[in-house]
Amino acid sequence: MDEANNPYSPGAGRLPVALVGRDAQLKAWDTRLRRVEAGRDSQPLALYGLRGVGKTVLLAQFARQARERGWLVARVEAKADASIRQLIGEELAPGLADLARPGMGSRVLKALKTALSFKASYDTSGTWSFGVDLSGVTGSNANTGSLEADLGKLLRDLAGAAAEDGKGVALLVDEIQDLEANEIVALSAIAHRAAQDRERLAMAVAGLPSLPRVLTDAKSYAERLFEYHSIGPLEPTDAKRALIEPAQAEDVAWANAAARLVLDAANGYPYFLQQFGQDSWNAASDSPITVADAKVGLARGWHSLDLGFFRARWERATEAEKTYLTAMAPDGDRGTSTATVGQRLGRHPKSLSLTRANLIDKGLIYAPDHGMVAFTVPGMATFIHRWTAAQ
Ligand SMILES: Nc1ncnc2c1ncn2[C@@H]1O[C@H](COP(=O)(O)OP(=O)(O)OP(=O)(O)O)[C@@H](O)[C@H]1O
Ligand SMILES: [Mg+2]
Repeated sequence: MDEANNPYSPGAGRLPVALVGRDAQLKAWDTRLRRVEAGRDSQPLALYGLRGVGKTVLLAQFARQARERGWLVARVEAKADASIRQLIGEELAPGLADLARPGMGSRVLKALKTALSFKASYDTSGTWSFGVDLSGVTGSNANTGSLEADLGKLLRDLAGAAAEDGKGVALLVDEIQDLEANEIVALSAIAHRAAQDRERLAMAVAGLPSLPRVLTDAKSYAERLFEYHSIGPLEPTDAKRALIEPAQAEDVAWANAAARLVLDAANGYPYFLQQFGQDSWNAASDSPITVADAKVGLARGWHSLDLGFFRARWERATEAEKTYLTAMAPDGDRGTSTATVGQRLGRHPKSLSLTRANLIDKGLIYAPDHGMVAFTVPGMATFIHRWTAAQ
């Protein structure tokens, strides 16, 4: 069928036509927005799960929900080599310009002035011009060098400005495990204080399954500060909807047995559902999508995943790291003890700890428990079998 009308969306952060199985998270976020608007406190959310389960898509949907209510939104993806100040500042900039309107109140003016000082904290050559004369306005000093103080003041003043018309500020941070510990401490402290002071701030963070531990290690009260949501594979009925509904919207049906094949192969993983859905659609010549189409779709789908989703990650590993990953592969997706990896490689686990740490830094594995390692990518173990057998 025409690829131009293909309704499936495999790829990082691509909003699916049918965003299913995440009602609890969407409702939790909506409740927070409404609580903040009502002047109540709101507990920050922390979403964690394996690669490709739909964390980024959820944060994007959170951002959309907040924007629809007229909120100021910063959605950023932490990166090991980027400053979180700059990421947040530049994400907020367009919304700040929108705040500057004729007849704006004193709290908006103050927030804009504070924003200029925050901008100066990471960019000494550039500034923002909001088309407003701020020379006589007093803002907060958000250029002290302390992230907690500077970002805290910026968000507090912006939240005050948003309060003038009953709105709020949303801060959404993806890949939070890539932040420095002190940055996580700063974010936690800001969220903590904002909730205590009923500031008009709602926050959600997302990251790999190690996220609850990463947060708690950085700040002991983070365990109670955040409401944690594990984002896993979709339940069978939701997985079926994720596959069937996008086609249905285009008046295309799936033969039952064809859908069954794809659902079994995808095992509830959203990324795989989108990939196999896309490839089966492209293989079909007409509605309904048949078993033969699904078989071609699956073969092409696995091939694309091997060359893209899996291989992109595999190639980030050095030879020594690939050896380590290969030693984990016999245990599949459920994880391996570091002692077993050592045994399989004939090495003392301690001598492998740097390799292990580098793989964690690269986001390829995580530590589900003390002395354990597991793949962050579902299906990575079987990929390694396929890949190494083909070499
Ligand atoms: N609830 C859902 N229903 C159907 N498809 C979904 C759902 N959530 C995500 N997807 C699809 O799954 C894929 C992966 O989503 P996303 O990039 O948000 O995952 P992620 O958890 O952020 O992965 P990573 O850890 O690699 O960043 C996308 O193609 C997206 O369209
Ligand atoms: Mg993501």
